[in-house]
Amino acid sequence: MKIIIVGRGEVGSSLSDALTEFDIHPWTMDIDDLTSAEIERIHPDAIINAAGKTDLKWCEENPRETFRCNIEAPVRLYQRITTHNSSSVKPIRFLHFSSGCIWDGPYDATGKPFTPLHPARPAVFYSWTKAAADQLLLAEDPTSVAILRPRQIYSARHTTRNTISKLITYPGLVTTPNSMTSMEVIIKTVRFCLVSKDNWNGVWNIYDPGVTTPFEVGKMLAEAGLRKMPAAIEKSELDAFHKPRRVDTVLYDDRFEKVIRPEPFEQVIKRTIAQFKSA
Ligand SMILES: NC(=O)c1ccc[n+]([C@@H]2O[C@H](COP(=O)([O-])OP(=O)(O)OC[C@H]3O[C@@H](n4cnc5c(N)ncnc54)[C@H](OP(=O)(O)O)[C@@H]3O)[C@@H](O)[C@H]2O)c1
Repeated sequence: MKIIIVGRGEVGSSLSDALTEFDIHPWTMDIDDLTSAEIERIHPDAIINAAGKTDLKWCEENPRETFRCNIEAPVRLYQRITTHNSSSVKPIRFLHFSSGCIWDGPYDATGKPFTPLHPARPAVFYSWTKAAADQLLLAEDPTSVAILRPRQIYSARHTTRNTISKLITYPGLVTTPNSMTSMEVIIKTVRFCLVSKDNWNGVWNIYDPGVTTPFEVGKMLAEAGLRKMPAAIEKSELDAFHKPRRVDTVLYDDRFEKVIRPEPFEQVIKRTIAQFKSA
């Protein structure tokens, strides 16, 4: 299978490195440069969009470019894909990275985790752009797109975007419940969405089952000798100085748990911290 991966950041690079069984074509230019002519030339089986503006503060300060990159360009790309699909015997699948942070939780009004069916409840501009893109893609055509919503992605890579690297850096960490998503389970889900004959499209919440807090993970990192023991801080204390404010979200997805069979968080985080330490 021929796969175009758009976006050379944390997720795009990790996918390019991991999906070695496929013929990967990393797209290094702007999303908008992936024109219909380019799509016809490369003739992919699937396009993965892991591109977007992700720095929350930058997004607030540059709303127009954020709007273009996170909403307009992915929707325009999907329109080109659906046009191709309407006249082709080989339809292209579109895998689009959204985010679990479209919900400002950690839980819904009844105290339950957010499922793919919950209406979006964004707290900051970046989250609004992610939620809007999801709705527009689904309105365009829900059949050829998988919308993937991870939360606080972590891996053994020593990069600034890795959640483990971030939790090593901050002196104080909040004690609010959250989901976290290993790159391992993202790769497993992407593989499924690329090769499965059916049940691959629609919205997927992606996470390692089991609720944690940034403070708990900070303690594990301290026990592994990767940082000093963190100070526990309340969410209200963080909100007083952290702008745009941090979003906390706990995810659940029945289909994801049945079909992907993700490993519990406890196991994956322990293994990944050990790998991070020795990398
Ligand atoms: N990492 C997480 O914890 C996390 C959690 C939930 C969801 N996600 C989602 O997963 C996706 C990938 O995230 P990531 O962590 O890999 O982010 P990242 O490391 O910031 O990578 C995103 C990449 O996309 C590029 N980009 C931005 N606008 C583009 C455009 N118009 N055309 C082509 N490339 C463009 C960025 O380049 P510049 O740096 O030059 O802008 C950057 O290299 C995003 O949609 C994000 O919302 C990530």
